[in-house]
Amino acid sequence: MKVIVTGKDGQLGQALIDSAPQGVELMATGRDQLNLADAGACRRIVLEFQPDWVISAGAYTAVDRAESEPDLAMAVNAGAPGAFAEALAETGGKLLQVSTDFVFNGSQGHPYQPGQAMQPLGVYGKTKAAGESAALRSLAPEKLTILRTSWVYGPVGKNFCLTMLRLHRQKAEAGTSLGVVADQVGCPTSTLTLANACWAATARHGGGVLHWCDAGATSWYDFAIAIGELGVSAGLLNETAQVNPLTTADYPTPAERPSYSLLDCTSSRQALDLQATHWRSALRAVLKAIPAPTS
Ligand SMILES: NC(=O)c1ccc[n+]([C@@H]2O[C@H](COP(=O)([O-])OP(=O)(O)OC[C@H]3O[C@@H](n4cnc5c(N)ncnc54)[C@H](OP(=O)(O)O)[C@@H]3O)[C@@H](O)[C@H]2O)c1
Repeated sequence: MKVIVTGKDGQLGQALIDSAPQGVELMATGRDQLNLADAGACRRIVLEFQPDWVISAGAYTAVDRAESEPDLAMAVNAGAPGAFAEALAETGGKLLQVSTDFVFNGSQGHPYQPGQAMQPLGVYGKTKAAGESAALRSLAPEKLTILRTSWVYGPVGKNFCLTMLRLHRQKAEAGTSLGVVADQVGCPTSTLTLANACWAATARHGGGVLHWCDAGATSWYDFAIAIGELGVSAGLLNETAQVNPLTTADYPTPAERPSYSLLDCTSSRQALDLQATHWRSALRAVLKAIPAPTS
């Protein structure tokens, strides 16, 4: 099976490369190989490599910066999947478009189903929703899998878990505390379990919209506390810093975030024939994969 994975230097891209099944002929692209804002280049790479699958993991993921760079975010998050889909419609390949809980506005107060209408709040969510729609316009439904996930973190890259480990270390040493938003609810998802779900999606017949997150629900505040406690158990921290709960109003950001973004993954877990891991167990596995600091 020939597969193009985009976003090879991102946190999901790295996990996809590390977990690629045997027999996959992989072309992994980062910024140096393929500019995702260049729709013509996205089209050409598909026509030249003729992949069975494109796993579209590369994205403009700077949620706050997207508010001031909407055109670039749209080119990357909607233009690239649209171009992949158009080219794959010609070559007969399939697209796995990785998408996000941010396509929903978070106001319904119970988990979102895969078939629900999208109502994004900010530029990032709008561009990811546009990416889903662009892919749908060109590819037959059985050739397109849209896999939405949430709160992604892993052992490498830029993510909340690595930031919290750094802050626990710094604040504990300085004897100060950190504040984390406690009124946004969702579910963290490890790149290790997410990559596994992506590969499972490529082994499945048929397309459609899937939701894949680790199991359970939490707030960023509770997640920060768990990262500290389990970080000590994993030998990554000597001690935890005190974490204080903040409200969203206490911590204003350029982009509005959904206050409740749980995705209902029940039918998708059945479709992928995968068991979900509770987010705390998934966090333990990620922490185990992070090398202990040398000093
Ligand atoms: N992170 C989350 O919490 C989250 C939640 C839900 C869904 N998702 C989705 O999951 C997927 C993987 O996200 P991730 O967390 O792995 O993101 P990530 O770590 O930010 O990786 C995205 C990669 O795309 C690259 N990229 C951005 N613009 C590009 C361009 N114009 N040309 C080529 N490469 C470009 C980035 O490069 P630079 O680093 O150089 O910019 C980065 O390596 C994305 O589709 C994202 O929308 C993420």
